Amino acid sequence: MKSSAPGKIILFGEHAVVYNRPALAVPVNQVQVDVEILDSDSAGIWIHAPIIDLHAELNSLQSDHAIGSVILKVLSLLDESPSSPNIQINISSTIPVASGLGSGAAVSVALICALSSFFSLSLTDNQINEMVFESEKLHHGTPSGIDNTVITFNKPVYFIKGQPIETFTVGKPFTIVIADTGIPAPTKESVGDVRKLWEKDKNKYESIFDEIGQISLIARRSIESGQPEMLGDLMDHNHSLLQQLTVSSPELDKLVLSARDAGALGAKLSGGGRGGNMIALVNQAEANQVAESLIKAGAKNTIITEIK
Ligand code: PMV
Repeated sequence: MKSSAPGKIILFGEHAVVYNRPALAVPVNQVQVDVEILDSDSAGIWIHAPIIDLHAELNSLQSDHAIGSVILKVLSLLDESPSSPNIQINISSTIPVASGLGSGAAVSVALICALSSFFSLSLTDNQINEMVFESEKLHHGTPSGIDNTVITFNKPVYFIKGQPIETFTVGKPFTIVIADTGIPAPTKESVGDVRKLWEKDKNKYESIFDEIGQISLIARRSIESGQPEMLGDLMDHNHSLLQQLTVSSPELDKLVLSARDAGALGAKLSGGGRGGNMIALVNQAEANQVAESLIKAGAKNTIITEIK
């Protein structure tokens, strides 16, 4: 039994989304997590995830282990008590860890989908989304739920915390270059730091969140109405607001500036910030040139993706 889940990028609205403002995110299908479940001769549930150097039997993991707890949750849904099925779970991924591409949520989505099929549980997307969100909450402090939603539904989403899921249509395809600083940056920390700032001066940070929320709204309209070229300025503006939230970094700023110098229509960090990835809007014909400039400016990896 095999299942996979894509990576994701946040186009607009990260951080403000934690404070109930809208954000836009899209799946990135050039990278993915694959989960395979096989019957096995060894006793127990063996998990092999070479990307995080995990080779263990389920019972040897702490009960709050990110992968182990997801498996236990699915097993708890089985009618009969899990008379310890003998299975092997292989997890592989091309999504860089802790870099804003949703690797953690993608592992959970692919794992739950594979277990659901293996045990014929027929879980719905909404149920899967809810379970992954529970796991995200255990490991990421106060997540908004945007990662699990865009990855579970594998469609562009306009996301407001706690509100029904809205997917949106892309009026005219557009091209994004994603560049990785190579610096792992746990989202929990940047989200926690923004919370501390907000607690000290709520008026100031609420108005930054408002401005970011407006950008997400205008961006959605631009995308739906087939005017993606409008997104460049919106990205630049969103990046400057993220700088004010202190979640950019010298490396991210350098990549953002290089992308613009190389002809990108706009650029910003994407995700939790401090490290991880940035994104740039480009004319398709210039995508390779921008990607090359980003590598010269220090990016460890680039992905060119068409949003459609
Ligand atoms: O770092 P990522 O891509 O997982 O994105 C986090 C997005 C935040 O808005 C910073 C946090 C959240 O839970 O929405």
